[in-house]
Amino acid sequence: WPISASVVHERLQIASCDLAALAAEYGTPLYLLDAETIRTIAMRYSAALRHAYGSNVSIHYASKALLNVGVARLVHSLGLGLDVVSGGELAIAQRAGMPLDHVHLHGNGTPPAELAQAVEAGIGRIVVDNLDQLKWLADYCAKRPTPQTILLRIAPDVTAGAHAHIRTGAASAKFGMPLDDGTAAEAVRLALQAPGLNLVGLHAHIGSQMRDWAALREMIGRLLAFADQQRRERSWLLTEFSPGGGLAVAYMPNEQAGDIETYANTIANAVRLGCERYQIPLPRLIIEPGRSLVARAGVALYSVTGHKTVVGGSDYLHIDGGMGDNLRPSLYNAQYTAALVARPCAPPIAPVQLAGRFCESGDVLIREVALPAAEVGELVAVPVAGAYTLSMASAYNGVPRPALVLLDRGQAMLIQRRETYADLMARDI
Ligand code: LLP
Repeated sequence: WPISASVVHERLQIASCDLAALAAEYGTPLYLLDAETIRTIAMRYSAALRHAYGSNVSIHYASKALLNVGVARLVHSLGLGLDVVSGGELAIAQRAGMPLDHVHLHGNGTPPAELAQAVEAGIGRIVVDNLDQLKWLADYCAKRPTPQTILLRIAPDVTAGAHAHIRTGAASAKFGMPLDDGTAAEAVRLALQAPGLNLVGLHAHIGSQMRDWAALREMIGRLLAFADQQRRERSWLLTEFSPGGGLAVAYMPNEQAGDIETYANTIANAVRLGCERYQIPLPRLIIEPGRSLVARAGVALYSVTGHKTVVGGSDYLHIDGGMGDNLRPSLYNAQYTAALVARPCAPPIAPVQLAGRFCESGDVLIREVALPAAEVGELVAVPVAGAYTLSMASAYNGVPRPALVLLDRGQAMLIQRRETYADLMARDI
C-alpha cells in the first residue's frame, strides 16, 4: 500500500483522503496516486546514490511506467530527469515543461521521424540501440550545428528479471548491441567518426522486477571492460554510465521488494571497482527506475457489479474494470491482492476470483483473493497498481480509460480525466 495509506474508522484512506468519497466524486474504475510515496522513494534513491557514489549521479524516471503531464511535472519537481521511448512521450514531457536536457530517448525501433523530432527538440541524450539507428543519426546530425550527445545501448548477455517478457539483457534480445560479435566496438568506431555525434557513454538494462545483484555486477563489469578496451584501442573515454532500471517491487504480501540502498550500493561499488581496475575516472552514473518509483504509489478502485457461484471452484466477483486498465495479469500472469475499501480488516471468507469486465476468459484480474463477502456496489481497492497499468491501458470493448487522481496531504487533484465516449470516437471520420 502507499506510504500514506491508513485505516480510519474501519475505512481505507490515502493521504488523509477518503476513498469512498473519491469514488463517489470521480466514478470507478479510478486510479489514485500517492505523491508522498513517490517523493519518499525518489529521496531514498537520491540519498542512497549520493551516499554510495557521490554527487555525480542522475535519476531519470522511466516514464513508460506511467506518464501524463501531471506525473511528468511531479517527477520534475523532485529533481528527476525523464526517459522517454517515443515522440509521444517526448511531447508529454515538453508539455509538462520538463527541461529537455534532462530527457533521454531510448528505443530499438524508433522511427526516423521520432529520432529527428528528439534531435530538433534538443533532447539531452539519445541512447542508440543499434547500428542502423546510429548510421541514421550520424547522417542526420552531420548537417546540424551542434552535435547530438549519445550513449550506446549494449546487450551485455546477462539476464535478470521475473518474466521472459521483461528480460532484456541477452545477446539475442532485440535490444542493444552485443559485445562478443564486435557490434558494440563497431558502433564506437562509427560514432567517433561522426562529426554530428558526441559519444559520452554506455547503457544497459538487463530486466525488470530484478533483485539479482550478481547479474547487475556482472553486467557493469562487462561494460567497463569494454570501455577499457575502447579507451586503449581508440582513446575513447567513458564519461557517463547507465545500468538502466529494473528494481523489483513487492506486489503480494509474501514478496520482497528490491532494497533501494542495496541496489545503489551494488551499482556504486561495481562501478568503482571496475573503474579502479581499469584506471578509468569515475563516470557520471545515471539510473532509470520506472516501476519502483510509481508502482506502490498507485491504487486502483473498482466497484463490485455482481457475483457468480462456481461449483467446484472459487466464486467470481465481477468488477467494473480489468484488462482494459490493467493488462498485467493477462499478459504476464502478474499477481495482485485486493481489499474492500469499507472493511479492509474484516475477516475473509473463501477466496474469490476477481473477474474483469472485458469479453475475454483470460480477463481475471486476481485468480485468488481472500475477501469478506462483498456486496454489489462495494468498492474494491487493488494496491501496487501505479506502474504499467494506465500506461498500457486500452479502450477495448469501448470501455473508456479511467481517471487518475493525485493525492497529497489531504488534497485530491484530478490529473487525468476519465476518457469519454466522445474521446472514443474523436478519430473516426
Ligand atoms: N530503462 C529501460 C531501458 C527500460 O527498458 C526499462 C523498462 C526501464 C528503464 C524501467 O524499468 P523498471 O524500473 O520499470 O523495471 N510492462 C512490463 C515492464 C516492461 C519494462 C520495460 N522496460 C511490466 O508491466 O512488468
